[in-house]
Amino acid sequence: MIYHSDPLRSPSLTNTPSLRSWGLTRAPPELVEELRNVLHAGLATAKPEKEVDVIFGGEDSRPLFVQNGILNGKALEVLRPMHEEWAGVPLKGATAYGLRAYRNSSSLQMHIDKSGTHIISCILHVDHSEDSEPWPIVIEDFQGNTNEVVLKSGDMLFYESSKCIHGRPRNFTGSWYSSLFVHYHPTSKSPIIARFTNSPSVFGDNMLSPPHDPGLWPLTCVPFCAHFPFSVAD
Ligand SMILES: [Fe+2]
Repeated sequence: MIYHSDPLRSPSLTNTPSLRSWGLTRAPPELVEELRNVLHAGLATAKPEKEVDVIFGGEDSRPLFVQNGILNGKALEVLRPMHEEWAGVPLKGATAYGLRAYRNSSSLQMHIDKSGTHIISCILHVDHSEDSEPWPIVIEDFQGNTNEVVLKSGDMLFYESSKCIHGRPRNFTGSWYSSLFVHYHPTSKSPIIARFTNSPSVFGDNMLSPPHDPGLWPLTCVPFCAHFPFSVAD
């Protein structure tokens, strides 16, 4: 149980050594082409995604969800060796989630992913509309640096998603912006695995909203994140 009196702990301030934090590479072109084809074919009829706590915006800007089950399973398997090479440990696939297509004016609150299964992950950026403005993902590394990364179609951002605080706090400007989210976890609990799974887990997996202190802005904890009453200015 973690309350707001427990200061937000940067990964750089914890004593749990990790190996990677984040990195950038390219996805196999054939897979990207398949994903782009599914995305472009499905956008016109895609339904809004179920509500996600960390995505903000009006009802009209709720992300669309392009069903992609079979290809997602293929992506999870095809991309696993690349993630294993990056992480240096054998991995088991947890899920490949998407395709999510963010819409105009939405934003993604800074957060960490759940520490049970989302250990070694990637964001595979599939494509965005021609009218999109650059929309960086913001990610904190283990040295405490806050990095902004603008992805091109086919880019894969590897990251330790339950350790590195990440999000897209600026509002998206454009018609749509779509990615696939791929997650793995180590296959055993060996000592080296503990380096990945001893997550600093800023908020923990079981959270209660902190008692409100008059005079302070409220902080609301929800699964995998906390909502801060601030916005990030451009
Ligand atoms: Fe995330």
